[in-house]
Formats: sequence, C-alpha cells, structure tokens
Amino acid sequence: MRPNETGIEAWLRDAALPAEIAATYPHYAAIVPLTTAKDSPVYTAATELQLGLSKILRQTVTLRPESELASSATLVVGTVDAFAAAGGDVRGIPDLKEDGFSLLCRDGGASVKILGENERGALYGAFEFLMLLSQNKPLPDLYSSSPSAPIRWVNQWDNLDGTIERGYAGPSIYFKDGYVVEDLTRAAQYARLMASVRLNGIIVNNVNSDSKLFSPTNMKGLARIADVMRPWGVRIGVALYFDTPKGLGGLSTSDPLDPDVVAWWDEITTSLYRHVPDMLGYLIKANSEGQPGPLTYGRTLADAANMFARALQKHGDGIVMYRAFVYNHHLDESNWKNDRANAAVEYFDGLDNEFEDNVLVQIKYGPIDFQIREPPSPLLAHLRKTPIILELQVAQEYLGQQDHVVYLPPLWRTIFDFDLQIDDRPSAVRDIVSGARFNWDRAGYAAVVNVGNDPTWLGSHLAMSNLYAYGRYTWDPTSDEEGVIRDWTRLTFGLNETVESAVTQISMQSWRTYEDYSGNLGIQTLCDIVKTCHYGPSPAAHDGNGWGQWTRADEHGLGMDRTVATGTGNAGQYPSAVAKRFEEIETTPDELLLWFHHVPYTHILKSGKTVIQHFYDAHYEGSQVAQTFPRQWETLRGLIDDARFEHVLFRLEYQAGHALVWRDSVCMFYYAKCGIADSQGRVGNHAWRIEAEEMELDGYEVVAVTPFEAASGSKAIVAADGVQTATAQCTVGFDSGVYDVAVNYYDHLGGNSEYQIFLNERLIGAWSGNLEDRLGHDFSDLVDGHSATRIYLRQVAVGKGDRLKIVGRPDGAERAPIDYVSFLPEGIID
Ligand code: GCU
Repeated sequence: MRPNETGIEAWLRDAALPAEIAATYPHYAAIVPLTTAKDSPVYTAATELQLGLSKILRQTVTLRPESELASSATLVVGTVDAFAAAGGDVRGIPDLKEDGFSLLCRDGGASVKILGENERGALYGAFEFLMLLSQNKPLPDLYSSSPSAPIRWVNQWDNLDGTIERGYAGPSIYFKDGYVVEDLTRAAQYARLMASVRLNGIIVNNVNSDSKLFSPTNMKGLARIADVMRPWGVRIGVALYFDTPKGLGGLSTSDPLDPDVVAWWDEITTSLYRHVPDMLGYLIKANSEGQPGPLTYGRTLADAANMFARALQKHGDGIVMYRAFVYNHHLDESNWKNDRANAAVEYFDGLDNEFEDNVLVQIKYGPIDFQIREPPSPLLAHLRKTPIILELQVAQEYLGQQDHVVYLPPLWRTIFDFDLQIDDRPSAVRDIVSGARFNWDRAGYAAVVNVGNDPTWLGSHLAMSNLYAYGRYTWDPTSDEEGVIRDWTRLTFGLNETVESAVTQISMQSWRTYEDYSGNLGIQTLCDIVKTCHYGPSPAAHDGNGWGQWTRADEHGLGMDRTVATGTGNAGQYPSAVAKRFEEIETTPDELLLWFHHVPYTHILKSGKTVIQHFYDAHYEGSQVAQTFPRQWETLRGLIDDARFEHVLFRLEYQAGHALVWRDSVCMFYYAKCGIADSQGRVGNHAWRIEAEEMELDGYEVVAVTPFEAASGSKAIVAADGVQTATAQCTVGFDSGVYDVAVNYYDHLGGNSEYQIFLNERLIGAWSGNLEDRLGHDFSDLVDGHSATRIYLRQVAVGKGDRLKIVGRPDGAERAPIDYVSFLPEGIID
C-alpha cells in the first residue's frame, strides 16, 4: 500500500528514489551557501537542497560556511559574483540574464556548483538540480539557462472576505473576514511552488479590488505576506480599486488629475513601500464591467496610469500593470458593427506614446475572455513603445473549472507561436512578450491562478500540471508540451511508465476534447455566461444581451462577421498580412472560422464537412474521448496512492457524464435552430434511453427545463411541493443482458437529495445529490446545464420485463430532479 497523499506538496514531493538507484549517486559531504542571510533565496536554496537530499537520496547533509568552499564532494550554491569573489573559478560560465543560472556537476556529479545570475537564479538552479535527481535524469557537466522574460507573475483574484472570484479550490490562503490571515504557512508553501517553476511575482488580491485593502491593519498584513514569500524570491504587488480616494480617503472625487487625489495616492504608495519595500506595483482594472475609472472623470486611461506610475517612481522599480480589459458590457447587439473584440484597440490606440516608462499594459491572450479558442488579441500588435504583460488563466474559468481535465499548454502555444507579422517582420507573440521584438527591458507574463485552501491547491490534482507548465512556459515558451507533462507526472506521481503514459495521453488529448464538446470553429466556449457560472452548456446565453460574446446564431447561420468589408472591422485591427488572411473565408483557418465570419450552417469547411455536421461530429467524437479518460485512469489503480487515485477517478467519471450533457445540449440547440439533421442520425435519437417524464410517477411532477436543451426531450421530473418520497417506475423493454445503467439527474445548490434505484425491488444503486460538497466548480441553484450530471451503475444484469423503480427524496430546494435512464450494452455510449 502506498501512503495516501493530499497533494499539498504538488510536484515538490521529493519522493525517495529506489535504494538501488540512490546508491549510484555520490555522497554529499556538505552544502555551502554563499550567504549568511537567512532570508536570502540563496539560503533558502541551501535548506531546500538539504531537505531534498534527505528525502530523495536519504542523505543527511550539513550546511557549512563559505570557508569550506575548496573541499570536494560539496554542493555550492550562490550567485556567480559571490562565487567569483570567494575565489571560485567562473571561466566557462556563459553570460546569464536576470534570474538565470548555471549548474555545473563535475567528478561524476560529486562536485556541484549552482550559480545564479542573482540570488533567485541560485534558488532556481537548486530546484533544477533536485528535480533532475527526483527523476533520475543525468546530471549535466554544465547547463545554463535564462528566462525568456523577466516578468513571470501570478494573479490571485482573492477577496478580502476570503472568497476567490473564479476560484475552485476553497477559500483564500491570504485573506479572511476583511483582513490578512494570521497563519501564512500556505502563502510560504505557495511561494515555494512558484519558485520551483521560476515564477517571481504575485498580485495577491482580486482585480475587482476593495478600498479596505489599504487600511492600516491590512498594510501590516501585506507586509507579512511579502515577508513570507520573499525568501523564495517572490515579490508581491496589489490590485487597487480606482475610487479608493472617494471611499476610504473621504475625498469628493477620484479624478486622477485632481491634486488632492494625486497627493492621496502618493501617501498610500509611500505607506505601502514602508511596509513592502520591494513591492512590484499596482494592477489596475478600471472602466471595465462596471468598475469606475478615469473615463468616469473625463480623463484618459493614460492620465490614470501615469498618476500611479509617478507615485511609484518615487520609491523603487514598481510598475503599473494597466489592464487592457476595458469594454462596455451594455453593447447594442442589433448593431452589426458593434464588437467587444474591438474594444481594447479602440481604447488604447493613440496612447502608445503617452505612458510613463513604468506603465505596462496587461492584455488577455484573446480579444474576448479566456475562451477555448481565440486569435491573439490585436492589441498585441499595436503597442511599440509601451511594454506588455500577456495575461493567461490557469484557473479554468471557461474550461471546465478543474472538474474537466484540460491541459492548457497546447492552447497557449496557439497564441505564443502566432506570428502577427507586424510591419511585415516576423513577430511571434512570444517574441513580443519577451520584449525582444520591440526592445523592452521589462515585459512578460501574468496568469490568473486562484489557488485556494484546499490541499490540492486548485481543486484537482491533475489541474496542477497547468500551474507547473505555466512556470515552465514563462521561462521558455517553446517548451515541448509532451515533455513538460511527462516531467510533471514523474514529479507528481513517481517514476512509473504506465502512469506517465496514461497521464500524458489524457493530458495531450484534453484541450482538443474539451473544445470538441464545448465550442467549435471559434464560436467560443458555449457555456452559460448569463448566470455568471461560466460552466455548463447554454449556447443561447451568448446572444440577446450586452456582454458582446455574441454568436449571432439564427435559423440560417452563425458566427460573428468581423470582416472589414461587411462586418465589425475587427479583422482590420491586425497587421495587414494577418488582416488579409482573416478577412477572407478561404484563408481563415477552420478553427477560427466562426470567430471572423458569419456563415450558413451548410457552409463547407476545408475538411469537406458542413459547419453543422462538423458541430455534430466534433461533439460526438469529443464526448466519446472523454469516456476513455476514466477507463485509462483505472489502469493506474495500485500504481499511485488510493487517495489521489480515487480523487482523480471521481472527477474523470463526472467529466465523462458532463461531456455527454454538453454534447446533447449543443447538438439539440443547433438542430432546433436550423432543422438540419445529423447525417449519421445520432442527434435527437437515443435508442437506449427511458425518459423520466414517460415513467409512471408518484409524487414526481414533469417540468419543462430551461434552457430546453439541458434536458433530454426538454423535460425532467422533480418531486412535487411537500412530497418527502417520490417514485418513478417503468417496465424495462430491452432484451435481457448485462448493461451499464446510467441515470441522468441534476445536482444543484439548495439541498442534497437522496436517490435509490431498484430492479424488481432489488436495490442496484443509491447516491446523494451532494456534488457541491465534492466538486469545485461554480454551481447554479437550478435544473440546467450546470447541474445536469450522470451516475453509472456498471454491469447490471437486466431481464426483459423487469420493473425499474427510482426513489427520490428531495432536500430543501433540490427536489430530486431526474432527466432519464439509459441501459447501455457494452460499447454503446448514449
Ligand atoms: C471575466 C471574469 C470576471 C473577471 C473579469 C476580469 O469576465 O468572469 O470574474 O472579473 O474577467 O478579468 O476582470
């Protein structure tokens, strides 16, 4: 039996190598840190090496002072400069960029020098060494590495009350009840994880910020957060609420040109620096989604950014991260020229030369909002002088919220590798972000991560590969997707080829799979955006409101016409070569067709299929692949500890069921819209289903579900008001045999209903509607596409003519809702 693991150490478990392998390594006599300062990342590196060696190789190694540098069989860790100053030989060490490191392993790995360009680099080198050991990879004679970009940061959307916006893993590790928490152990552990993948900064609070962040008590709290993260080379910054002068400050305005406002922010900034002398700066969301901002006061975005920038300049190297996510969420859909995707360029054009040097514009990867597939934001091609931060999302807000597995690097690569051809010169997004394309010294990456208090950090063990990969990609955006997931798997689950290949296969298929069943051809993730869960399917939710995530689906066609010729002109916001490509249907890749063009359902794709048939096929294929994930995972039983095995299996089973909900919802929605049947006759034909509304009901009543496509046959049953036990019964008409019995039901907030299912009065299954206690995604409180789910009872012997009975016991507002029951012969998915 393997000891159960909670996941709290993520990929830093430092699991012991098998004794026979450990014995092949040298015995390390001493670790020599080239510093005596206990809060230095170099010292952290030394203690981390000590801990790692004790766990991985079971060696007890002492820390020794610099005077022992000359002795052999040691591990030396420090900066290149400190090593040279102590008389060390630094010939042959190449020039390193900020945070870079060299790792030299001589004498068969017995003499190890870990030398950083700076103290953080030394720590990164130490982690590199330990991760090589953990994976039993060869130790290099000389390996040097430098980051692609200096800014490699995390954004947390933590609120002061302890909730996390778009967080799927429990409450904040930073805040509770309006204040910074007393016990910051988790914050330090988070910094350790970040440092191990070379992330060097974090904005600790939500972009939808709160003026009370700057109360005297919270200033002290921020200082404590900075103190626990600093030894890991992680600096902190804050997101601010634009109208704080009016709220907390008691001023009559927050106008950025008002002298009192300027003085007020100066004072706040001075006070913050007193508490956090190495503060990163300010992240600003303004004039976005109802937030106040400079436009509220008749000022420009640059007026605001520069006011903050000047306040920061008086103290250190702090920067303003001014978010480009500025848009009007009350757009008029009846005007075909309106387009939210145009907003960033429209707001920022003309400002490129207006910003202070320490203003960076933080731009989401796509023009809309973290969708399953978007082209790169056109704003990436408009700023030449003002450096940028590219905003990604590790939290899977629109991508299954960690209850669907989606390994993100393949999606990120579509952005990083995209050549924007600015001024007809090669302009891959990764080279803009690194600063190389326009000679910026400071630019880089931020990702919304939203870890929570759950021991798994992100709510799901598998989701952690995305945090790991995020670090790896900010360092090297050309990293091999499969290599990264393999490394992560070995570090997370141990050195076992079966485990490695199963996790790799599931992960490498996962993004495509999710795209296949959630939103194809650039139509966006077709989740419900109106109830704000951003989770389950509801294709209609995209249209008929001012949010601007429109699909413009009607009975004839769908897609946004973003051409210059007849549409919103968005294609024309890209540099000419790219604009030309997106302007024409023929040269727009199929996967972005509906992002840029409005076409009939019968439009023929480059693949030769019609758009509507592509939708049907992709949804059937994707949801079918999702069924293979739990089966693949099951082959790992006993190869990893039971706790993590069961945790992942439960989620993959859930995902397999919800993928079918997605498939049926999206297919039925578009079938109802256009009336064009699936050429393979699958859509709307479910030979193995018994609809709950067609059963004999006692205490249950039939309800029409909204949206209609979230229920098979658009109806479900719920227990009638006041009923404590409701039943639904029928006679099974399928041939006798062994079936997997699937029950599709709804599990929403408001109660935990109980269910039992009988065949001829023999209990074959029982469960509770308690997914909200077991899964992390945002739940709705209704019978809909968020709450629709499936449970399987495997391998049930069924006789023709058997009586099927489901007993539902409602609880609170959850009235034991049921959609249908399927009897699935081997190999049938329905
Ligand atoms: C999305 C997300 C919000 C968030 C916003 C932002 O719209 O749903 O919760 O506040 O992005 O990035 O500011």
